[in-house]
Amino acid sequence: MCGIVGYVGPKKATPILIEGLKRLEYRGYDSAGVALMNGGGIHVTKRPGKIRELERALAKNLSSATCGIGHTRWATHGAPTEPNAHPHTAMDGEIALVHNGIIENADALRSQLQKEGYVFASETDTEAVVHLIDHLWQEGQPLEIAVAAALRKVDGAYGIAVISSRDPGKIVVARKGSPLLIGVGQNGEMLIGSDAAAVIAHTREVVYLDDGDYAVIDAEGYRTFQIEGAEVSRSVHEVTWDLTAIEKGGFEHFMLKEIFDQPNSLRDVIRGRLLEEEGDVRLGGIRDHAAELAQVKRIVVMGCGTSWHASLVGEYMLEEFARIPVSVEYASEFRYRNPVIEPGTLALAISQSGETADTLAAMHEATRNGASTMGIVNAVGSTIARQTDYGIYLHAGPEIGVASTKAFTSQLVALALFTLFMGRRRHLSVLQGREIVTALQELPDLVEEVLKVNDEVRDVAKAYMDCRNFLYLGRGYQFPVALEGALKLKEVSYIHAEGYPAAEMKHGPIALIDDDMPVVVLAPRDPVYKKVVSNIEEVKARHGRIIAIVSDDAPEIQDKVDYMIKVPQTIPCLLPVLTTVPLQLLAYHMAVLRGADVDQPRNLAKSVTVE
Ligand code: G6P
Repeated sequence: MCGIVGYVGPKKATPILIEGLKRLEYRGYDSAGVALMNGGGIHVTKRPGKIRELERALAKNLSSATCGIGHTRWATHGAPTEPNAHPHTAMDGEIALVHNGIIENADALRSQLQKEGYVFASETDTEAVVHLIDHLWQEGQPLEIAVAAALRKVDGAYGIAVISSRDPGKIVVARKGSPLLIGVGQNGEMLIGSDAAAVIAHTREVVYLDDGDYAVIDAEGYRTFQIEGAEVSRSVHEVTWDLTAIEKGGFEHFMLKEIFDQPNSLRDVIRGRLLEEEGDVRLGGIRDHAAELAQVKRIVVMGCGTSWHASLVGEYMLEEFARIPVSVEYASEFRYRNPVIEPGTLALAISQSGETADTLAAMHEATRNGASTMGIVNAVGSTIARQTDYGIYLHAGPEIGVASTKAFTSQLVALALFTLFMGRRRHLSVLQGREIVTALQELPDLVEEVLKVNDEVRDVAKAYMDCRNFLYLGRGYQFPVALEGALKLKEVSYIHAEGYPAAEMKHGPIALIDDDMPVVVLAPRDPVYKKVVSNIEEVKARHGRIIAIVSDDAPEIQDKVDYMIKVPQTIPCLLPVLTTVPLQLLAYHMAVLRGADVDQPRNLAKSVTVE
């Protein structure tokens, strides 16, 4: 949510900033802007809409500036208009600032500053910070001192980057609750970005700032400090993926590329982690905490959106195989009630980005209540990954499509690995463990099989593309899959869809069923298959149009359904990985056929770093 990029070095900054912004566009695409430091002054260009609008505006008057900052916005305070777009500037135009996050005391700061004579040009919370820096800047001081002084008066979450013509050639950045990193370039160039995607074309060496840090960056290098004043050292990390991971690689959309990447991403999440003989797993990130984990009495899983759906599958797995009571919480709700956290509770945060503000806050709430915290996260070095006590990385590589696909299936597998770990340290036998290990080993190849249904699913999408509502039904392990399938369709094709436990349908949604209502039923061969067959009968009796996802020839339902999409068979707890894939493809094709912007659906953002 909101992307920040910056460059200082020997080259022209504009193309580098634009390229970085394009790579961050998935974080927000309501408006975009850059501030360039050129000769004596700062020049700001900003436009509502996507980066290409900004690019067009900049092309008219190419700047030779070699230092600048840029921003792509997902609107929180104020509509996505040009005045509300970042960068925001001081009244004399000598300071420019970009911000990701929310300034909670912005109203109070605004009225104080207005009393001092400051005139605001936007409705944003951000603008208060730039005027505050100006207000506190004492003659002769370097920029960073004024920035740190201002940040000491700011409440809320921020990743910011600031430049000033009063102290040229440097960028000051700071973070608290919103991500920000420094890219350490070669030959006198330095970059900054909200995530590594912004800098990877220039360097793989990155420095993650900690919450409460600020840094001063110039062509010579960087220095990091705590906002309270002390200089601190932050180490350089090497990004393990390369540019190809964030390019479309011949696919029309990132979403499709990422759906097709799933055999690989699943190989990566299990790589080196399965112990065939022992029916167990090797998980470096939690190994040292085995004794503590063996004592866990209850697990509270927290996530948002797709990650919340993965958590539900995790609940079923952990309860079935590790026999630990699990509750799954919407992170955004958990933080605002008074949760009962007993001794022995593990709070497990699930997040692709590792930056989701609600999940982070729920985790803090759990910590405050005495729980240990663990993360299942994709983005290496992200806030949740660093602030949890221990965790498991997905290693799925960057996910750019706003609708999560490969991260979801990797989350399911990571949860299966964690279940095995917990189960084997409790009651799960070697034999049961081996059965799961074998099924996990086979899974990437099975997903490769599933992907062959792509053309078939496209035909289904053609048949249903004009429908305005969809119902998704599943039971047991397939219930969260129904929720996820419905969410994917909503997100990318803007068709209303509801996921429901198949048996609950008769308590309400059945009233919606007529010959106009497509119903996607998850009916693979698992212990509740027969029950699901009964639910299919109920839909058929009301003339609903059924699309069934099955895992064999399903003779019981063949003549009752309009379309049948077949996936291979595996053990029930891993079937969600396979049945999800056709639903991802269905959402994708529906969106493409309806002309929707698949990779950047309206109003959504990939990583929601505000409440
Ligand atoms: C946003 C995205 C969703 C995602 C959710 C949680 O709403 O649009 O696709 O599932 O955040 O994100 P996380 O990074 O925590 O998994």
